[in-house]
Amino acid sequence: MKPGKIIIIGASSGMGRKMAELYAGMGNKVGITGRRDFMLREVQQQFPENIFTECFDVTQNENISRLESLENKLGGLDILIISAGTGEPGKELKWEWDKQMIDTNVYAFAEIANWAFNFFTRQDHGHLVTISSVAAERGMGWAPAYSASKSFQTRYFEGLSVKAYRMKKNIDITCIEPGFVKTRMAMGNKLFWVVPVEKAAKQIIHAIEKKKRKAYISKRWRMVAAAMRIAPYSLYKKFV
Ligand SMILES: NC(=O)c1ccc[n+]([C@@H]2O[C@H](COP(=O)([O-])OP(=O)(O)OC[C@H]3O[C@@H](n4cnc5c(N)ncnc54)[C@H](OP(=O)(O)O)[C@@H]3O)[C@@H](O)[C@H]2O)c1
Repeated sequence: MKPGKIIIIGASSGMGRKMAELYAGMGNKVGITGRRDFMLREVQQQFPENIFTECFDVTQNENISRLESLENKLGGLDILIISAGTGEPGKELKWEWDKQMIDTNVYAFAEIANWAFNFFTRQDHGHLVTISSVAAERGMGWAPAYSASKSFQTRYFEGLSVKAYRMKKNIDITCIEPGFVKTRMAMGNKLFWVVPVEKAAKQIIHAIEKKKRKAYISKRWRMVAAAMRIAPYSLYKKFV
């Protein structure tokens, strides 16, 4: 892949951070965001020539101005990856948790995706990527707002893909659905097939290079997703 200009929303930790390190190590210019400035600086110090930072909360009213600022620092934009997300599994249904998930995973996500799609439309090239989740496939009892917000992301990206095709625009759309990846978001004691974060980041980068419309991390989660979609509710409700 020839060096490009990449923005990763939510790259202070987890998969976003690992992708930023890998992309910068390959010679790309990478703009990274998150709320924890010290973690963004740690990444920047590893690759002072290639990493540019903007520290902000996506649930505040700064997304567009910060995206424009980062695009200016990079001097262009080829790929935008939305990795910022939040999930609070729990037995209780707390509104403050639901609100945080909806504000981050739905409202901020859509605002950023909308900006990037229109930016790529104007320049007639670009690649938009989101890290959704296998949880998008069905409603989850442990986090209804999380699974609903990830369904929103997956459906929104399918819609954008159709839109780019109909507009005959040179825009690629990739929706990643991980199962479990070893980051701070993978909580609970019923985890299985947990993928190390570096392996996940490499698989996502590979899917982007191959311009896949949809990819599961790891690949075997495709089977789980398919089983979730066809399972009758009477059976499904006993497992999630
Ligand atoms: N790990 C898994 O098992 C798993 C499975 C399926 C899907 N996913 C999805 O993968 C994505 C990445 O998560 P991860 O697993 O890599 O966990 P992570 O380490 O918690 O990464 C989440 C990133 O999002 C940023 N973020 C969260 N809320 C934000 C806000 N309000 N404003 C700005 N940035 C915000 C965080 O930065 P700050 O905290 O510094 O703001 C962090 O950089 C998420 O969308 C998650 O839903 C994860």
